[in-house]
Amino acid sequence: MSTVSPQPFQVQRNDRPAPDARRAAALAAPKFGTVFTDHMARITWTVADGWGARRVEPYGPLSVDPACAVLHYAQEIFEGLKAYGHDDGSVWTFRPRTNAARFARSARRLALPELSGDDFVESLRALVTVDQAWVPRGEEMSLYLRPFMFASESFLGVRPSQQVDYIVIASPVGAYFPGGVRPVSIWVEREYHRAGPGGTGAAKCGGNYAASLLPQTHGYDHDCDQVCFLDAGTKTFLEELGGMNVMVVYADGTVRTPPVSDAILEGVTRSSILTLLTDAGHEVDEAPVALPDLLEGIASGSVAEVFACGTAAVITPIGRLVGDDFDVTVSDGQAGPVTMSIRAELTDIQYGRRPDRHTWLHRLV
Ligand code: COI
Repeated sequence: MSTVSPQPFQVQRNDRPAPDARRAAALAAPKFGTVFTDHMARITWTVADGWGARRVEPYGPLSVDPACAVLHYAQEIFEGLKAYGHDDGSVWTFRPRTNAARFARSARRLALPELSGDDFVESLRALVTVDQAWVPRGEEMSLYLRPFMFASESFLGVRPSQQVDYIVIASPVGAYFPGGVRPVSIWVEREYHRAGPGGTGAAKCGGNYAASLLPQTHGYDHDCDQVCFLDAGTKTFLEELGGMNVMVVYADGTVRTPPVSDAILEGVTRSSILTLLTDAGHEVDEAPVALPDLLEGIASGSVAEVFACGTAAVITPIGRLVGDDFDVTVSDGQAGPVTMSIRAELTDIQYGRRPDRHTWLHRLV
């Protein structure tokens, strides 16, 4: 950890913040990623000068040149974290240094400059301090933080951008899937892949999500909420859900999840769940999950539960798996007991209702 204090963010207050009534309405029933707070944090980087002034400024549209490199070559990365309001009024986030380290890894893969962990964490603190009135206090609610970095040079040659902007925006949120916490249906995609060996699958970059959108529409066509991707080489092994990792709970209590690779994002929620499951005495197996074995296990009863996990989705039970030649129900379409108990433990830690024995929480305000 650095011993030098991070540079402070200079705050330019929004002189036209949302009226109290509009903010109260947004906080009462937040829909994921639809409403944004009054400010954003920002730092610009250039090859010549490195990272420039740290600032918090009014939230608003960016003025982007039509030749802006990100619009053409998608040199962009992002992160997702949440700020949780605790009963005593304090506001905390969860393992921000782990997100900062992943952001730096994503930056390396996308040939973007690395932001220090100190600047990353300080940008969250500075923004949430100014916009703390936007932290929702209701059940399952939080302030979703979206740090991102993009190539902002106006230049059409294909090479790493010589100017980059790092921005953090914040949005009050409830459950990611419409309808609250409920078992979701997953379309298992055989035709398209989001990532391949040596590609960008382990980086959190917009391009991976763009590649997931057409398959996701296949999911919608089959009345599914999300899509699960298989490995590009053999079309056999589960990788991830595009925006979430996937875990399988067996009847004997073992929990298996695909091992991280250059095609799977290393989820912070994923690693936290593996730790909590191990603490609770479950055998945890980071090993490939073959689709035929999974379907056979669901049919025979050896697979008891399947769930998705990620910052936005938290832990979401999976009640149905659909593919071009199967349609199966998992856990009778209900949320399973292991899924829901690990979910309760994780969210209790995040909201300050249970001891944080792994010191995962980081106070912002
Ligand atoms: C997150 O879980 O924070 C993500 O970035 C996933 C995205 C699909 C919302």
